[in-house]
Amino acid sequence: MATLIKNISNLVTCRNSAGKPKSGKRQSDTGLIKNGYLIFKKDKIIFSGNESELKYFIKSKKLRIRSEIDAAGKTVMPGFIDTHTHFVFAGSREDEYEMRIAGKTYEEIAAKGGGISSTVKAVRKTSADKLKEISEKRLNNFIKAGTTTIEAKSGYGLDTKNEIKMLEVINRIGNENLFGLDIYPTFLGAHAVPPEFSKKEYIDLICYDMIPEIAQKRLAVFIDVFCEKNYFSPAETGRILRTGVQFGLIPKLHTDQFNSIGGVDTALRNNALSVDHLEVLNSNDIKKLSASGKTIATLLPGVSYFLDISYPPARKLIENNVPVALATDFNPGSCMTENIQMIMSLASVKMKMSAEEIINAVTVNAAFAVYAQDKTGSLESGKQADILIFDFPNYKDIIYNFTSNRIDTVFKKGKLIYVTL
Ligand code: NIG
Ligand code: FE
Repeated sequence: MATLIKNISNLVTCRNSAGKPKSGKRQSDTGLIKNGYLIFKKDKIIFSGNESELKYFIKSKKLRIRSEIDAAGKTVMPGFIDTHTHFVFAGSREDEYEMRIAGKTYEEIAAKGGGISSTVKAVRKTSADKLKEISEKRLNNFIKAGTTTIEAKSGYGLDTKNEIKMLEVINRIGNENLFGLDIYPTFLGAHAVPPEFSKKEYIDLICYDMIPEIAQKRLAVFIDVFCEKNYFSPAETGRILRTGVQFGLIPKLHTDQFNSIGGVDTALRNNALSVDHLEVLNSNDIKKLSASGKTIATLLPGVSYFLDISYPPARKLIENNVPVALATDFNPGSCMTENIQMIMSLASVKMKMSAEEIINAVTVNAAFAVYAQDKTGSLESGKQADILIFDFPNYKDIIYNFTSNRIDTVFKKGKLIYVTL
């Protein structure tokens, strides 16, 4: 009993046989099949290809097709993967947004007790159940734009009890959301230093108290640090990442957002899976990333837009063979949108990435950036049936017709979770 999507004008498979993220020229290869066919059974894709391959496949497998979807005039792509979000939070920071529009910078607002601290106050005051309820509502907005896999960070608790509370909420949303969205939890205790501790005391608390408990309760897959002037230095970042690694967490890093202080070196030394932000990344660090050949550059152009700061050097990264992923960084302070299609448009207009590079950046490369490359990120046999159907025949429209959101159907693990009427 299987479902066939047939006559697909553009089937964008994003297929990848290399076993590593796409970089350089390969980042432009989307594995496009014109007039394509795709079959999924239960939660898995069992076939993607052209008409003659389809006939052979159906005959050799004696397959019974239970339902058919005619996708003539449509484009099919893998569900998008948003690898960097802070979508679990309470409160709102509209007031800060207005202060910024009136001329204050993000850093000035943070220095006066706003920024991350103001969300920390709101999260600490909110019960786990309430936090779950308000955060879960945000999933709808992710799904409507085509996101079917999300990473989510803690980092607004900043003490053991509240960091654990946040991670438990993230895990509960992952296990209980009705859409079956996969949610990858990241421990970001080192997001800022809360006022009740000195920096040294707080880092000790992270390393001796939070990380062991989080690891023992299996509440996180990744560990992240905000490596930035006035937050965590490269040396402090290194200590936290190393402790995380000892406890089985995979490092990621917020770095080079406002200042280039050596975060990339620290990330590489600790085999970080991704370095995220990179608005002020310098050429030397691009060369180091290139030489490492492993770490993914996750760019967040929504932050550049929302804070009106510089954009990361996407072209230079691609020219230097560094694999690029894109994500929203959805959070109340520096990028208040769940819409990854907006990020894709910014990547095109502001960073001059091609439609093909952008599509790989939110699918196959993004899958590697959350260590989900064996499960999702491409439309190939054996992968989860995380599938988007768009109401346009040419995949380039996803960029050209920006944010119009012409999704007509979203499948997550073979389950229909969203349809436009
Ligand atoms: O990714 N840069 C640090 N953290 C977030 C912002 C968090 C906030 O302002 O609440 C970011 O931009
Ligand atoms: Fe972030």
